[in-house]
Amino acid sequence: MSKQSFVGPAELYEMLMGLSQLTGSALLADVAKVMGDLMPAGMSNALNPKQIRSKIWLVDEVLRHAGGVHGEVVVMGGWHGVLSALLLNDPRFSLRSVTSLDIDPGCAPVAMLLNRRFVAEGRFRAVTADMHRPGSAIPPLGEGSLVINTSCEHIPDVRGWLATLPPGQLVALQSNDYRAVPEHVSCFDSAEAFAAAAGLGRTLFMGALPSRRYTRFMLIGHR
Ligand SMILES: C[S@@+](CC[C@H](N)C(=O)[O-])C[C@H]1O[C@@H](n2cnc3c(N)ncnc32)[C@H](O)[C@@H]1O
Repeated sequence: MSKQSFVGPAELYEMLMGLSQLTGSALLADVAKVMGDLMPAGMSNALNPKQIRSKIWLVDEVLRHAGGVHGEVVVMGGWHGVLSALLLNDPRFSLRSVTSLDIDPGCAPVAMLLNRRFVAEGRFRAVTADMHRPGSAIPPLGEGSLVINTSCEHIPDVRGWLATLPPGQLVALQSNDYRAVPEHVSCFDSAEAFAAAAGLGRTLFMGALPSRRYTRFMLIGHR
């Protein structure tokens, strides 16, 4: 046996399928399919413990402060669709549909494969668009809908983007103070500074989640 051995897509698929059987997790089988078929760049980042912890934080706080029954859910800057998958696989939630929108055309095929069980039910789709001008890429928003944006650090003007949503729109937003990343054009020093920049009409939750290199901030409320 050679000293160095690399795990390829086929081995990763087998390993994750085994773990899916062990844990009874259908989501893990979906991840296995994505890694086996596509092995997309950035997927290990999207699934790292810090990313998952921050998404679980969002899911739990949305449930606590805004409940689990929502109509159309739109995840702006939804990347590879991991947050959508966490929401759709969570039995505490009852959601009419989830749309994951991202400006990077490489994201939609990954998100569609990861959430393919819900695509088959007509409850998930991934679209490629700029969140500032989603047009008909997303369903009509308003009463009962929920807009999530965990990529607020990637857009230059959070309040300007929020102004494109209907008045009173329920939103869950995350940003951070991780200025070392060049794409992070909109970082904040505190949850309070993030809240001031967003200028929500009604805040249901405001909090901070520290990690080793940076702190993530979250707001849940109405525009
Ligand atoms: C690194 S990812 C996700 C980071 C985020 N902190 C998280 O944990 O979910 C940021 C995503 O935002 C997307 N994005 C950036 N600007 C966007 C825009 N104007 N419209 C839609 N998606 C955008 C990028 O393509 C990328 O997939």
